[in-house]
Amino acid sequence: MKMWDGRFSKALNSRVNDFNSSISFDCRMYREDITGSIAHATMLGRCGIIEQSEAELICKTLKEILSDIENNRLEFDFEAEDIHMFIESVLTERIGDTGKRLHTSRSRNDQVALDIRMYLKREIAEIKALIIRLEEVLCDIASKHTESVMPGYTHLQRAQPVTLGHYLMAYAQMFARDIVRLNEIYAHTNILPLGSCALAGTTYPIDRHFVAEQLGFDTVTENSMDGVSDRDFAIELASALSIIMMHLSRFSEEIILWCSGEFAFVELDDAYSTGSSIMPQKKNPDIPELVRGKTGRVYGDLTTLLTLMKGIPLAYNKDMQEDKEAIFDAIDNTKICLELFASMLQTANFKTDKMRAASAYGFINATDCADYLVKKGMPFRSAYKIIGRLVAYCIDNNKSLDTLTIEEYKQFSDVFESDVYEAIDLINCVNERRCYGGPAPESVLRQISNLREFLKNA
Ligand code: ARG
Repeated sequence: MKMWDGRFSKALNSRVNDFNSSISFDCRMYREDITGSIAHATMLGRCGIIEQSEAELICKTLKEILSDIENNRLEFDFEAEDIHMFIESVLTERIGDTGKRLHTSRSRNDQVALDIRMYLKREIAEIKALIIRLEEVLCDIASKHTESVMPGYTHLQRAQPVTLGHYLMAYAQMFARDIVRLNEIYAHTNILPLGSCALAGTTYPIDRHFVAEQLGFDTVTENSMDGVSDRDFAIELASALSIIMMHLSRFSEEIILWCSGEFAFVELDDAYSTGSSIMPQKKNPDIPELVRGKTGRVYGDLTTLLTLMKGIPLAYNKDMQEDKEAIFDAIDNTKICLELFASMLQTANFKTDKMRAASAYGFINATDCADYLVKKGMPFRSAYKIIGRLVAYCIDNNKSLDTLTIEEYKQFSDVFESDVYEAIDLINCVNERRCYGGPAPESVLRQISNLREFLKNA
């Protein structure tokens, strides 16, 4: 029998029951549901809406139900419509009429809105912790590689010299912005909807601010119709998770390329790579490939939520039950990707010799060579032209800028002196890029210490 069977004369068709039921996926919010109910019952007792003794019995029994679920003494009934109905029916089974008073001045509409907000608050904190760990891994590796020269690319063509430390700290900046975004979304989520009831509030003298305080919410929602039908916070979270995944996916793409024989900039630890069932020589970067793949899936979850919400009139509509699987999926997948990606990086072997060797080709010091002439007084555009011709000469004669003789240099401009070799030395090229945000070792060390400072208060 259903909670609402008073109005009905027939049992629900069993296929409809399965179709309607959400307990198979919303059961993961049992803790939030019970904790929310305890705060609600406490408030009802305090405000004299139910007897104090009844409130106490309800709270005590709810705590027992929670511990029974956590200790596998109580199993979810997947015939129940949802987690809210399930908990309430167990409560009523255990304490009879008193249990039936819990739902006074409450609807599942504000109850589910509360549960999701509580659940997401917890998850946001966990996701943040995973990003902080990834950031620490990046800082640790970067601090060991402030002098490991490698090519920086544009258009995937070797462009200018940077260091592995600088490269990794670029990703660290992306993840730092992700933390800022999560903090903002946490604040938007941390507003109590309970007390909105079905949509129009209640005639009972409830104290919403007391419930907010009990449950650690900053404040309460301003409008009861908005309170039950707002899912912006879930959409914002799915969007922040999509951006995190986009960052991880870009990073994955680099790792996949770097694992290739053509780059060979990194070797993943055996524990974090896989073999082939047919090709005995293979070692495949499955983790970054799956991260890249799952990024599409998380974008899909965001699209599900946006599309779900785009046409629903005020206030609650059953469509909104579809929000949970999408946001849960986005959370679960982002978390596992963050965790494994950090461990994969931590154990990876970066081949700095290969990076250094790759830097010797591709004329990545050509800009520095032009700057050398500029520092001797030549306008940049004129210097740019000369170096362009010099590079073409090198290509024709199979040389690089550092293997040209000074006589060859002088054929292109008599401004060249023997100090040009120092100016185009790759280590010097990196060391001289001391501008704020640049790849010079001291600049990267500053990036690392600023980020570590940020993480302390994140
Ligand atoms: N299982 C529902 C959901 O997830 C709970 C709210 C149901 N409210 C209702 N009026 N049917 O959205």
